[in-house]
Amino acid sequence: MNEPWWRSAVFYQVYPRSFADGDQDGVGDLKGLLTKVDHLSDLGVDAIWLSPIFPSPMADFGYDVSDYCGVDPLFGDLDVFDEVLAAVHDRGLRLILDWVPNHTSIDHPWFKDALTGPDAEHRDWYVWRDSAPDGGPPNNWVAAFAPVPAWTRDPASGQWYLHHFLPQQPDLNWANPAVEAAMHDTLRFWLDRGVDGFRADVINCIGKDPALADAPENLAPLMHCVLNDEPGVHPLLRRIRSVLDEYPGDRMMIGEVALLDPHTVAAYYGDGDELHLSFNFMPLHGPWRADTWRANIATTEDGFRAADAWPTWVLSNHDVPRHRTRYSRWPHEPVDAEGSLQRTRAAATLLLTLRGTPFIYQGEELGLEDAVVPAARVVDPGGRDGCRAPVPWAALPPHGWPTPSGIEPWLPFPPDATDLNVEAELTSPDSVLALYRRLLAMRRGSRALQHGTYEPVDAPDGVLAFRRFDAESSDERMVAVNFTDDAASVEFDNRWDVELASDDTDTTGPFDGKLRPRQAVVLRRAAG
Ligand code: GLC
Repeated sequence: MNEPWWRSAVFYQVYPRSFADGDQDGVGDLKGLLTKVDHLSDLGVDAIWLSPIFPSPMADFGYDVSDYCGVDPLFGDLDVFDEVLAAVHDRGLRLILDWVPNHTSIDHPWFKDALTGPDAEHRDWYVWRDSAPDGGPPNNWVAAFAPVPAWTRDPASGQWYLHHFLPQQPDLNWANPAVEAAMHDTLRFWLDRGVDGFRADVINCIGKDPALADAPENLAPLMHCVLNDEPGVHPLLRRIRSVLDEYPGDRMMIGEVALLDPHTVAAYYGDGDELHLSFNFMPLHGPWRADTWRANIATTEDGFRAADAWPTWVLSNHDVPRHRTRYSRWPHEPVDAEGSLQRTRAAATLLLTLRGTPFIYQGEELGLEDAVVPAARVVDPGGRDGCRAPVPWAALPPHGWPTPSGIEPWLPFPPDATDLNVEAELTSPDSVLALYRRLLAMRRGSRALQHGTYEPVDAPDGVLAFRRFDAESSDERMVAVNFTDDAASVEFDNRWDVELASDDTDTTGPFDGKLRPRQAVVLRRAAG
């Protein structure tokens, strides 16, 4: 079967500021990443999504781009980037970049020119409107991060510019063909350098209602980016896809479609001629409960199958609290550190056995929680510092982040960094890291897990069970996840052997139908 690589791939998100620090200034960079490519290859992932590395004043830590075709000196330069790409390719992995098409930084030369006045060459590269009749913003849209209007008034011209995010992130006007052409060229710049594709930031926002009508009153308090779903986005996506298709080698794009309903998200795959993949964010916002997950999976299977689209799964990223943190607090039962790690281990087993492409966020393979960030060290306007804490590489402080002056990294380390770090976990067969490696190796060796169908299987309350089956190879797996803090029993047709248990390495042999609290198992058909 000839399937594109991203369907069977497992992606790993690198948030470069916090991954590894090569120049010892307390902020991660490309040189640091270069020294850790082996960690990723040994882990067993197939592709890396690298969060933004472009020149930026860092109002939104790189998601405010002032030059799409360069590397911020904080992260290195184009030469180090080429070295990283070569190192990644040498190990048979792929690399996709984070492309931020909806907005630039206010420091981008296009916006600086636009600000010089209504007649500026680049004025119409952004979205400008006059005040509403009452002198206020042109419509009722709300920006992300703080409940403020998605518009800022330029005192010189008296007009307002649109920004779905910070005022330092003006939205580009994709209705202007010059913008579209220029943005296509930014893709070509990196495709020419050999990247395997892109993660496209809030791609749903590039299509705008030409009338910029008010959001319905009951929804208006929500940040508008989660409502922005315009038909005009689809021709834009088809033309972006054509740019990728100009290149050999299966280049791809996964979109951050910041909408929650899988049926809506699946529409962004078009007829196989728009996005190759899209994030499916429901699990980022739901609790660790069997019924919620069962419903989410069913809705996803439904919505994506209707569009013949391939699903994706993600538990954590740089925008939300880590799932270990989320699953340890309300509405979940209080749990000690060991119990919280067991929930995380069961969640990893689920993530890596579902039908669809999984995304791992750096550090989740170590079982990290969010850092506790004291008020004096808060830096993100969106309150997301906790999940962006530096990855601890070594057991002893400074955990692989030494600096000549002894200054601490840009954010504090996550809790328990003395135990939860790459060095310590590599030596322990029971570590979360060892579990991720086993899961990834298992997935790689199973056509059912990589490509097979998903069939829900009856199970008692609190347990999620499903079968994965690949007809071509007859490969088959059964997965059972006990979400509860109590033991549970399941009964399946046929006899099964335990291939992997989330909570230890000793449980092997015939499956007796018993699940320990917070345990997930992957089973294969018993011989005979
Ligand atoms: C996306 C990014 C987020 C960023 C925002 C604006 O949601 O994931 O980190 O702040 O877009 O670019």
